[in-house]
Parts: sequence; structure tokens; C-alpha cells
Amino acid sequence: MKYYLTTPIYYVNAAPHLGHSYTTIVADTIKRFKRMQGFDAVLTTGTDEHGQKIERAATAVGKTPQEFCDLIAEEFRRQWRILGLEIDRFQRTTSPHHAKVVEDLFLRCKRNGYVYKGSYSGQYCVFDELYVNDAKPGDPCPDCGRPTETVTEENYYFKLSEFQDRLLDLYQKQPDFIQPETRRNEVLAFVRQGLQDLSISRTTIKWGVPVPEEENHVFYVWFDALGTYMSAVDGENLWPADLHLIGKEILRFHAVYWPAFLWAAGLEIPKRIFAHGWLLFEQEKMSKSRGNMVRATPIHEVLGTDALRYFLLREVVFGQDGSFSYDALVGRYNADLANGLGNLASRVLTMIHQYRDGVQPKIPADTSAFGARARAVVEKTLDYYERLDFSKALEEIWKLIAWVDRIIVEYAPWKLAKEADQERLDLILYCAAETLRIVTALAYPVIPQSAEKIWSQLGITTPLKDSRVADLHWGHAEGNQKLGVVQAVFPRADAKAIVKMKEHEVAEYERQQELLGKKPAPPVPVFERDGAKITIEDFAKVDLRVGLVKSAAAVKGASKLLHLQIDIGEPQPRSIVAGIAEAYQPDSLVGRKVVIVANLAPRKLRGLESQGMIVAASLEGGAPVLAGFLEDVPVGARLK
Ligand code: MSP
Repeated sequence: MKYYLTTPIYYVNAAPHLGHSYTTIVADTIKRFKRMQGFDAVLTTGTDEHGQKIERAATAVGKTPQEFCDLIAEEFRRQWRILGLEIDRFQRTTSPHHAKVVEDLFLRCKRNGYVYKGSYSGQYCVFDELYVNDAKPGDPCPDCGRPTETVTEENYYFKLSEFQDRLLDLYQKQPDFIQPETRRNEVLAFVRQGLQDLSISRTTIKWGVPVPEEENHVFYVWFDALGTYMSAVDGENLWPADLHLIGKEILRFHAVYWPAFLWAAGLEIPKRIFAHGWLLFEQEKMSKSRGNMVRATPIHEVLGTDALRYFLLREVVFGQDGSFSYDALVGRYNADLANGLGNLASRVLTMIHQYRDGVQPKIPADTSAFGARARAVVEKTLDYYERLDFSKALEEIWKLIAWVDRIIVEYAPWKLAKEADQERLDLILYCAAETLRIVTALAYPVIPQSAEKIWSQLGITTPLKDSRVADLHWGHAEGNQKLGVVQAVFPRADAKAIVKMKEHEVAEYERQQELLGKKPAPPVPVFERDGAKITIEDFAKVDLRVGLVKSAAAVKGASKLLHLQIDIGEPQPRSIVAGIAEAYQPDSLVGRKVVIVANLAPRKLRGLESQGMIVAASLEGGAPVLAGFLEDVPVGARLK
């Protein structure tokens, strides 16, 4: 039986960080669990490479979009390889095969009468790739707070409005279609408000999958991206997906748009969507735009991937937000892995080496007292895994570890070894090793590499990877096998581990920056040297004002310049010439609020008078990024 699961396909405007690793690690864990249950589990991930955001990110570092995408897609692949994740298909939206599947999806929707042409004029959030209905020029995006941009374009529209009842019916009849429950309620509330038709093509962008039989249209990135789930497994009899695993911020696209597109095309919809919470770092969502990212590979280098996997799945309640910190990671690692499972393994295996020459005793006649306990834990743990409640599953397994630790102390094998009757010693050694076998197999989906190591130290020759849940029953191991060599699987971590992870993190950050063609920001504040300091009076001489872009046009013969008319609350708008043409389309600037230096002496550029300067961040080797405001601010307001 097949089980097809997916992660989101990640935008390539940033290199992979721990947030991306989180979803992909969880997906890998579920895949391994499903395989234990006997499914042929297939896991798809990939990269989302089209859209204005990516085009701009490429321009900013002086690369073509394709060059840029190739580089970052490979970076994601590399990341999953290093972390040892079992990815079956890595799908890129720039692959020609994917384009065909998206075209087909569109043509089916069109043939069935769910697509029409219309025009849109309004605000657009480039970051979220989302039209913001009811917004005015300059309004912030309600999702991310960034300034929206004004666009006017002819589009293909999808008749989303026709699917409201069918969607509500789906959520009603299949309550586990959206999980967890809180997220399902949010979607219900959203759909009950009524659905508007959705624009699914763009004419203002070039970097996308072209719409068939159209000169200027490319598909809206989400229409393109969602199609990946099908294009990745096209012709393989795997559709519909059994599970889409996503972060909570992209639930609407998956739980509302995606089933509607598929229905319109006459195709089957996925079976289940699970929207997990955010990984926070110092209480904020870890993301490129906040610059508070941590990467997975430095943790892998120092503590191993399994330490990270265990931490993420044990510490964060799946479905809720959770926090990452190096202290908490090392704390968990030492308490649960080094002192918990690692200690149990070396203790049990060492005793068998010591008292039984490294051969596990044969299964004793009556082990029922131990068996009952283990059986109950297996049942509960499998049930928690099935519900994707990983932290509970691990808690259950670790209770069994604590229990067997106590029983060993109670039986005191070191005393039994000196007695004439050796049956009791055989009993405790067999039962401790059998509990260790079960615990190791149960923990395998979360800590696969370490579990395999303990498995071979237990002397079991078939790989744990090929074990099935049926093998988890008490007494499955007959005993009498020769153990492997005992080695510490989770050596204790000391304070130096954190220092090392932080050092690796800096090195990894710098490597990624270099890869992107950027120089890492200099660590020393620019104004540190005495001579460079200015007084508050000096600063007050600069008249900085909020301006509203009324118009923008290219400057003939100057590829970098734009000529803008900017209202700063004076009777006439200012004429300003700015070197931002390589980073911004003129149309996208109209309606945007910017910061202007209003008291610069005017000067002429290409015959045009520039009566001020527009303020932008100047990126090393890249394109400028305009300063703006998250809150609405009145035109002409002074910056102090
Ligand atoms: N390209 C879209 C998805 C298209 S799917 C058809 C996209 N990409 S993304 O690069 O922004 O990745 C978002 C996903 O990455 C989240 O939904 C989540 O799975 C993961 N995460 C990114 N940052 C995260 C956290 N800080 N915490 C948890 N997950 C995070 O949206």
C-alpha cells in the first residue's frame, strides 16, 4: 500500500534554515513510521523558484534568475543530504516537466468552465505573492505588514466563489482533512465569510510558467507551486497525496485554493493537511526577513542530526509554536539521550558482555511481568505516532526507559552474578535487552542513525530500517545472539558544545552569504571611529520626509535610473531621479510610501532636475532596497 506525503516546496530567495529543516525532518520521521507500518512511503520536497520575489533576489546579487535558482535549489538538496533525510523526489518548479503538469491543470480547469479573463487593479504584496483586496495605495499587507504595491493588470481568474459550499461540506464530512482542530476552525471561519474569485495569472512578471496560448501571462506562483505535489509523482499512481505537511502560514492556499483547483480540474483532492506551528528563536518566527535564523548543519556537526531531530520532536508540541535555543537543545540531549537512552544501552550491553560473554540469554520461560509493561507502551506510542503527536510518543518511550532503569537497580545484576542460581540474572538481562530492542525500534523514526547503531550493538543483523511494527511485540527476539561492540552512541555534551555550534553557525552563515554573492555584514559598527561621529545638531540638518510616489518612468538611455514624481505634502510633487531601475519596475512603485531627503541641493541628471534623494539600503554588490514603513504614516511627516 502506498503512502504519499509532501513538505512545502521552499522559496529559493533564502538559503535553508532551521525552520525549513523542521518540516522536512518531521516529514522524514513520518515516512519512516509509515514504512514501519508496512506502507510504501514516498516523500516529496523541492523548491519554489518563480515569482517577483525570486527575480528580485537574483537581481540583487547580480545573477540571472535561473543561475540563482540552480544555486539555491542545490543548497537545499545538499542540506537534506547532510542531514540524512530520505527524500524520494525533489521537484523544482523550473523543471520543464513540471510546467507541463501545471499547464494541464489549467487547461482542465478552463475546459470545465472555471477560468475566465478579467482585469485587476489594486494592491499586491510581493513578499506573500498575494493580492490584498480592499487595501489602498501604501497600505501594509495584512499578513506580513510590508508595504503593498499598486498593480493594474489583465488576468485569468479562477471561479473560487463557486466552491464555498463544497469546501464547507468537505470540512464538515471529513473533519480530519485539516489538522489540528484550531487551524481547521480558522479555515472554516475564512470560507464562511465568502470567497472571491482568484487571479491565477500575472502579466507584470516574466519569471514564471507561461500560460498556454498567451504571450504575456505567466501563472500566479501559487497555482504553479501547488502543482508540484502532482508533477513530482506524475504517472506513478501515487496521487492523491495522503498528507501535505505545511507551516500554519500557508494553510489557506492548501486547504481552500488547492482542493478547489483540483475539483475544477476533475481530479482527486489530498486526504489530509497538517499545519504545524512556527519555530521561534528568541520569541520571534525564525525567518530570513527577521535575520534571526539558525541553521541545522552546525548542530549536526557538533551533536549529530539525531540530537536535533529528538529535540524538535520532543520539545515542540507538534501543531503548536515552539522555541529553539542552544541551551535547551544541549539540556535535552544530555538528559534524555546521553543519560537516558545512551546510558541504558551501554549499561545493558556492557553487563551482557561482562556476565554472559557478549551473548544475550535465551528467552526465559516467564517474562510476562516485563512484557505487559512493554506491550502497553508500544500500543500507546504507535497511537501517538499515528496522530502525529510526537512529543507524547517520545514521552511514552522514555517512561519505559526510566522504568527499566529502575528495575535493573532493583534486580542488581552485579549482585546476582555472584550467586549460584543464575536464572534470575538471565531473566533480568534478557528482559532489559528486549526492552532496549523495543525502545530502540520505537524511537527509530525520530533518531534513525543512532537507533541503527544501538540495533547493531544488540547484535541484530537485519537493518532496523526493514523492521515492521509487528516485530515490536514482546519476545520477538529469541535471544542467544552475539552482541556487537559496545560504543557510546550519545557522548555527553559540555558547555563547549554550545560555543562550537555557534562558531559553526557563523561559518555556515558566511558560506551561505558567499554563495549568494554577498559579503557578510561587517561586525564593527560603522561609526565606531571617533572621527566619523556626528552631533544630533548635524543630523537635524538633514530634512527627511515621508513621500508618496505619484508616478515613475524609465529614463531614456540610463538603465539604472528612474524618474519619479513624489508628493511630500508640498503644493507640487518633487521631481526626483533615482538609481533604482534595476531593482524596481516603475509601475510597482506608484502608491508606495518612501523616505526622501528633502533639503539636498537640486542637481541635473540626464537633463532632468532631481529635487531630493530617495533613501534605500545599499547592499554589497547588489541592488538597492527602498526604506519604508510597516505602519501607515502621513505624507510629508518628518523623520527625526
Ligand atoms: N513556497 C511556499 C510554499 C509552496 S508549497 C506548494 C513557501 N515557501 S517558504 O520557503 O516560505 O517555506 C515555508 C515553509 O517552511 C513553512 O510552511 C514551514 O513548513 C517551513 N518554515 C519556514 N520557517 C519556519 C519556521 N520559523 N518555523 C516552522 N516552519 C517554518 O511558503
